[in-house]
Amino acid sequence: MSDLILGIETSCDDTAVAVVDAEGNVRSSVVSSQLETHAAFGGVFPEFAAREHITNILPTVHEALRQAGIQPADLKAIGVTRGPGLIGSLLVGLHTATALGIGWNKPVIGINHLRGHLRSADLEERRVVYPATILMVSGGHSLLAYMKNETDIRLLGSTRDDSVGEVFDKVGRMLGLGYPGGPEVDKLARQGQANIPFPRPLMQNNYEFSFSGLKSAVSRYLAATPDAVLADVAASFVQAVMEVLVKKSRLALKKNPSKSFLIVGGVAANSQLREEAARLCKNLGVQLSLPPVRWSTDNGAMIALAAFDYLKLGIHKPPLPQLQLSINEF
Ligand code: KG4
Ligand code: ZN
Repeated sequence: MSDLILGIETSCDDTAVAVVDAEGNVRSSVVSSQLETHAAFGGVFPEFAAREHITNILPTVHEALRQAGIQPADLKAIGVTRGPGLIGSLLVGLHTATALGIGWNKPVIGINHLRGHLRSADLEERRVVYPATILMVSGGHSLLAYMKNETDIRLLGSTRDDSVGEVFDKVGRMLGLGYPGGPEVDKLARQGQANIPFPRPLMQNNYEFSFSGLKSAVSRYLAATPDAVLADVAASFVQAVMEVLVKKSRLALKKNPSKSFLIVGGVAANSQLREEAARLCKNLGVQLSLPPVRWSTDNGAMIALAAFDYLKLGIHKPPLPQLQLSINEF
């Protein structure tokens, strides 16, 4: 049997556990979602998230082992998200992994959640052609990175305030849409005209993002315009976000020799982003790689795959909390 790693992810509101082999084949991936718990609050309620992780974590571990058809003794190691994320949620995963490691006599490796996302595109089909430029746009994070290979990863830039997913969710709430707002804003924008000149934040030639000003501009526009056409507001907002993402991605692809461009994170599901990225890659002669949504959103498999990288490199990252985004941790 090939080496197997158990990956545990509890940084936000999903309890996710998976079994992955050294080639990135996923033997099982179980995600216990808390979406219904948090929908009433219009965002993740940290204390409830931690409590639900406590209830869900062991059944989810058992289910992942059962679906993979293996026993704990078959595992080579356990990978667990060490951050960034909600501290109460992270601690549930870290303590569980540490206890299982002691009980099963397996090494436990702490994984940067962002590194997991960056590696997610290589799950199963090994889609990434290196060197690659990668755009991560999720509910919690937005960044651009350059990957010479699986383990040589350089952070180019990240958001200074809200992540792209977060700003979609907040604008969704302003427009009276359900949570999460991203998919609904996407749909509504398709029916409107991008005719409102919202600001395009930080359009200088760098890789930093900032979206809170755009969010405030939408809020101000809605307050000042009682008869606003909501579909036009959505379309104009999405257009502003897309222009920023495409400009920064184009710059990254031109400055860093890349054979492929990857987009990971929940916002990779956005229909306009997918179209714009396809156009950009066609123009630049770069391969576009969009992993399926199940690997793009939070999952345990990406954490397990990142743990294999550390095993191969002989690096041991302890299962201790890591709260800040740190370039060195890549
Ligand atoms: O990757 P993910 O599950 O979150 C984190 O790991 O942080 O992504 C969830 C985010 C939410 O903010 C959601 O609104 C957004 O992805 N999202 C979208 C779309 N589908 C999901 N945003 C824009 N357009 C979409 N179609
Ligand atoms: Zn994530």
